[in-house]
Amino acid sequence: MKRISSLFFASLVAVASVAGEVNYEVIPLPCNIQLSEKGEVYSLSQGAVVTYASGNERMASVARLLADFLKVDADFVVVPQADVKKGASIQLILGLKQENQEAYTLTVDKRGIVIQGVTEEGVFRGIQTLRKAIGTEGGEQVSLPYVTIQDEPRFPYRGVMLDVARHYFPVDFIKQYIDVLALHGCNQLHWHLTDDQGWRFEVKSMPELAKKGSVRKQTVIGRNTGIYDGREYGGYYTQQECREIVEYAARRFVNVVPEIDLPGHMLGALHVYPELGCTGGPYEVWPIWGVSRDVLCAGNPKTIEFLKGVYDELCDVFPSKFIHIGGDESPRDRWKECPKCQAKMKELGLTSEAELQTYINKEMDSHLAAKGRTLIGWDETLEGGLSENAVVMSWRGIKGGIEAARQHHRVVMTPTSHCYIDYYQLKEQRIQPMAIGGYVPVSKVYGFEPTAELSTDEARYIMGAQVNLWTEYVGAPEHAMYMLLPRLDAISEVQWMLGEQKNFEAFKGRLPRMQTLYRKLGYKYCDKVE
Ligand code: ACM
Ligand code: ZN
Repeated sequence: MKRISSLFFASLVAVASVAGEVNYEVIPLPCNIQLSEKGEVYSLSQGAVVTYASGNERMASVARLLADFLKVDADFVVVPQADVKKGASIQLILGLKQENQEAYTLTVDKRGIVIQGVTEEGVFRGIQTLRKAIGTEGGEQVSLPYVTIQDEPRFPYRGVMLDVARHYFPVDFIKQYIDVLALHGCNQLHWHLTDDQGWRFEVKSMPELAKKGSVRKQTVIGRNTGIYDGREYGGYYTQQECREIVEYAARRFVNVVPEIDLPGHMLGALHVYPELGCTGGPYEVWPIWGVSRDVLCAGNPKTIEFLKGVYDELCDVFPSKFIHIGGDESPRDRWKECPKCQAKMKELGLTSEAELQTYINKEMDSHLAAKGRTLIGWDETLEGGLSENAVVMSWRGIKGGIEAARQHHRVVMTPTSHCYIDYYQLKEQRIQPMAIGGYVPVSKVYGFEPTAELSTDEARYIMGAQVNLWTEYVGAPEHAMYMLLPRLDAISEVQWMLGEQKNFEAFKGRLPRMQTLYRKLGYKYCDKVE
């Protein structure tokens, strides 16, 4: 159980008096911070030595990342523990005994700084805390107050979604996005790779799919105004690039959950393979926003064959245990009129088109299960029943998530009401870049409780929470960062901290230090908080 000790509250005063210096009250706030009452400090100097458990390559990588993070004016020397004769300034070690695999301790005393984890992942969470505590101080020498920190995250799934289908974002930006997630203790990048407006994942056995499916002739201006920009728009990720991103993320202990949305949101693919649609097309990669009535034909055996081929390559590139099949917003009008779909329903003895979608979900579920993967779907996938193992992502409010938890499915909570960061974050719309509409301020995100309305037993099925960045109206990296920050700060405390320990006023007090770091790192953010 997490507890912030009374000593911690007593020490708040001491910390406030050295504002602008090292401060361990970072975002997300560690569970337990005990500052030494005597106010001693340890001086971390230029040329300091960082050691890691000898022979452990993952720890070596974590140590090098720490040296990179801290390298402002000071250079750090990274060496295996066994090679150090006189002791080190920062020691990264394993051997902590805790149930939570991401737990770590961070201690500063006269011997220096020690970060100890149950796993390398825990040590990585600890180096992020140290880095944020030092913030932008840098310089020849940094004075760190003596402290003992014990920390661990509340939820195992701490996600952020990025839609790269509506707008393509360069590989370097995806890496920066991963950096920002890792900075906030998030461990899942949900990567929405395909949609009506573009297919952005290379499938080697179907080379035309990404080549042609990624390109739309033009894009509507504003909110489906009927006026178009007249410019071709495209871009996709090669498998090599995806692997590079997966590897980059893994080094930062972020898992990439890829999503190929089915059976709707498929115009990118239908443009290339019109025979997979109920009407036979032709279809264009959509230049407008919204939900298309044209979806994959569920009665065509080639559809399942196509999907299995795509997912085979997807699983080959992405090692993620969780694979997202989408499943949201798939109108069934075409299926009602399609002889193939109706014949399939008859063959399977189905009485509704909803069950036809369940048939596809189940085909995908067993295909993924055979590869040792677990299906995640948006909450619509729950409608026709899901296999026991499948995970539900609740976006149309929390009702779907509650229902799923009661059916003993694992759940990720990401309701539009609290977690849609494509919505405006300030009341006054005209002072912000364009958003899809709505109003999800930082305070709303912060106030989200993922286990609300659930019994203790049911709450065990809530794996975590996620914010979603859809990009119909977000075309540039700086705009994406503006939408993300500081709502990411807010969700990171929802994901990391126990509900009763959260405090919005205290959170706002911690934010300026994070913003100083964002400025140093060149991250755009919204500087108003509502
Ligand atoms: C969704 O926002 N359509 C999952
Ligand atoms: Zn059909």
